[in-house]
Amino acid sequence: MGLNFSLLIVAALILAVFLGVEALGLSFLFGVIIPYLALATFIIGFILKVVKWAKAPVPFRITTTSGQQKSLPWIKDNKIDNPATTSWTMVRMALEVLFFRSLFKNTKAEMVDGKKLTYQWEKWLWLAGLVFHWSFLIVVVRHLRLFLEPVPAFVTLIGKVDGFFMVDLQNFYITGVLLLAAVTFLFIRRVLIPQVRYISLAADYFPLFVLMGIATTGILMKYFYRVDVVSIKELTVGLFSFNPVIPEGVSVLFYIHLFLVCTLISYLPFSKLMHMGGIFLSPTRNMPNNSRAERHINPWNYPVKVHTYAEYEDEFRDKMRAAGLPLDRDGAEDEAAATKE
Ligand code: HEM
Repeated sequence: MGLNFSLLIVAALILAVFLGVEALGLSFLFGVIIPYLALATFIIGFILKVVKWAKAPVPFRITTTSGQQKSLPWIKDNKIDNPATTSWTMVRMALEVLFFRSLFKNTKAEMVDGKKLTYQWEKWLWLAGLVFHWSFLIVVVRHLRLFLEPVPAFVTLIGKVDGFFMVDLQNFYITGVLLLAAVTFLFIRRVLIPQVRYISLAADYFPLFVLMGIATTGILMKYFYRVDVVSIKELTVGLFSFNPVIPEGVSVLFYIHLFLVCTLISYLPFSKLMHMGGIFLSPTRNMPNNSRAERHINPWNYPVKVHTYAEYEDEFRDKMRAAGLPLDRDGAEDEAAATKE
């Protein structure tokens, strides 16, 4: 259901641009108005979400730990898996964000012969996730050549390294194809593994289809139906300098590519893709675990009227003694002191 629904929506979006640009000539809508609206939604939505999360109180120290905590000097602590200082927390966070370290530890649980639970090596999700995210980043950085004039040296350099292989006398960008391959793998995995398929919703399929659409139209533009990159650059530079223009001869394939990018970024703040910002605000990840060294008091604590055991015993001592119950304090001294007075 979620799969078909998402596929249908993405197909409808593509058809809408095709008809809008080809039949109705709405290039200004798809080339200028929608990109501005999408960018505004992305920026405002992202900020609002981060501010909302940042304002949420975190009364408890709930660091996720998976190693020995720092305690006595002769017990070796695990600084990365149980960080006790802010700097080690930052190391752990960096390893998580850059290399998905916790996903690397992922294992697959399976019943063997219907009675023995086994845990098996499982690195494919980690690998595909890593390839996808890094390729995405590199593709986006390479795209800066379409937005900036002059093109920064690092963008040209990344393009040269990534496009090291030549196919038909033109650069073949490895990351563009890896991006599509990784997203396709993530989709197939979701569909083929029954347990993963069972928990998959439209919110999981939709971003995958949008990403597949973006990468496919990009690859089509670059290698199969060459587009006029000079006109496209005129359009993008116009957008960023707030002097929007719609040059002649921009292919509809580009408008589809751009519209899917707009869909992705405007949807991002309201979707699971916000993990991009959320990881840094996650209390289980951004707090050092120093609970043994420091006493953390819940700021929400208010004075509570308690009835201690000692008070309870004072209150019921006679009855407890009569029933033969053990007493912490016999109370005889108090009675003796009271009679002396
Ligand atoms: C989420 C952001 C985006 C992704 C993931 C993406 C992805 C891709 C991919 C994979 C390609 C194939 C060639 C390559 O590997 O670079 C491509 C090409 C292209 N993209 Fe994007 N794109 C994005 C955003 C944009 C935006 C915002 C624009 C313009 C406003 C754009 C314009 C183009 C153009 C013109 C090409 C063809 C380049 C050429 O022929 O040299 N893309 N894109």
